[in-house]
Amino acid sequence: MLKGKKIILAVTGSIAAYKSALLCRELIKAGCEVKVVMTDAAQHFVSALTMSTLSANTVYSDWENGKSWTNHVDLGLWADLMIIAPATANTIAKMAQGQCDNMLMATYLSAKCPVIFAPAMDRDMWIHSATQHNIRTLLSYGHRMIPVGYGFLASGLTGDGRMAEPAEIVQYVTDFYTESLALAGKKIMITAGPTYEAIDPVRFIGNYSSGKMGYELAQVCAEHGGEVVLISGPSKLTVTHSNIKLIRVISAQEMYQAADVVFDTSDFVIFAAAVADYRPEHVAPNKIKKKEDNFSISLVKNIDIAATLGKRKKENQLMVGFALETDNEISHAIQKLHKKNMDFIVLNSLNDPGAGFMHDTNKITIIDNKGNEVSYGLKNKRDVAGDIVDYILKFKK
Ligand code: CTP
Repeated sequence: MLKGKKIILAVTGSIAAYKSALLCRELIKAGCEVKVVMTDAAQHFVSALTMSTLSANTVYSDWENGKSWTNHVDLGLWADLMIIAPATANTIAKMAQGQCDNMLMATYLSAKCPVIFAPAMDRDMWIHSATQHNIRTLLSYGHRMIPVGYGFLASGLTGDGRMAEPAEIVQYVTDFYTESLALAGKKIMITAGPTYEAIDPVRFIGNYSSGKMGYELAQVCAEHGGEVVLISGPSKLTVTHSNIKLIRVISAQEMYQAADVVFDTSDFVIFAAAVADYRPEHVAPNKIKKKEDNFSISLVKNIDIAATLGKRKKENQLMVGFALETDNEISHAIQKLHKKNMDFIVLNSLNDPGAGFMHDTNKITIIDNKGNEVSYGLKNKRDVAGDIVDYILKFKK
């Protein structure tokens, strides 16, 4: 799986840098081509000569750079993957902010490949809000983190702040490549966000959906190698992954028109949008002035995008929907599953604290059309998206 992969191993100044030498050797053993970039601080813990000997390549560093010009852009473009191990709190902060004060950061900023980082620091630094904030920022860039204490989780010991063991990092990278092929060649359409239904030029009927769940699903599908079309209602979020094509729409009708075009060529379709069920019958051409004490707007039903497209779903297509319910959750979700011809439906109940709109977390139950029902714990939406994509991958028609 790793044979022939071109890897930049970036080493920063932590005591865990000694493990990078072993990591380098493991990667070479697995058939990778490794080029090492080190900070000056890292060289207090492991020498450039060691890393150069193990990688059988020149080591890139600021010291070396003082003697000869090294093109960090070429190095960034050469790589299939950049592994930053150990990643210190300082380097993590610089990555979050895009600072460029050494060869390692210059390489990082010019790299076009996926980035995996393995933090290493003491516990207090790790739990500091600033570090945690920076970590969230890096995850939002689509980078992967090998959690601190990763190697300790299995052993039952506590390992807060400790870098994962080299063998575990290699395993993580292998899993990364295995999973990154799981949706290769598949086309995935995802609807996300709220819809805004215009009342007049300055007002609309909308809902509190942030779009987060749909955007996370798009990211996870893209990371698994899928070709994603994300049709999003108004959302502050954006996408960075090159496998995601973002189509922005405003209203339910626009969302339907976009989905109608993309649907037939999609292998998997996920309806994660919170579509407004009704829209004003008439949109006032000018701002409505305040006059009467009571004012009412006549509403007409919007098209049900999932139900309409579900009618022409083909044998080889898989359709996933969402249901956000406040009462009789399971039976309402099952009704929607069948009415809209879905393969499975993801239920989130507004009665669960931390689930649904306006939260970074979600708690779901998946109900499929074969009668299976699986409940998951409260997780961040990225991990929830991972569970949903795993369900898609395991789902046999
Ligand atoms: N959906 C859709 N188009 C609509 C309404 C809903 O595609 N006009 C999709 C949603 O994206 C979701 C599923 O249908 O995957 C269920 O949405 P939900 O709002 O929970 O259900 P509704 O059918 O609108 O029923 P109700 O609002 O009465 O609960």
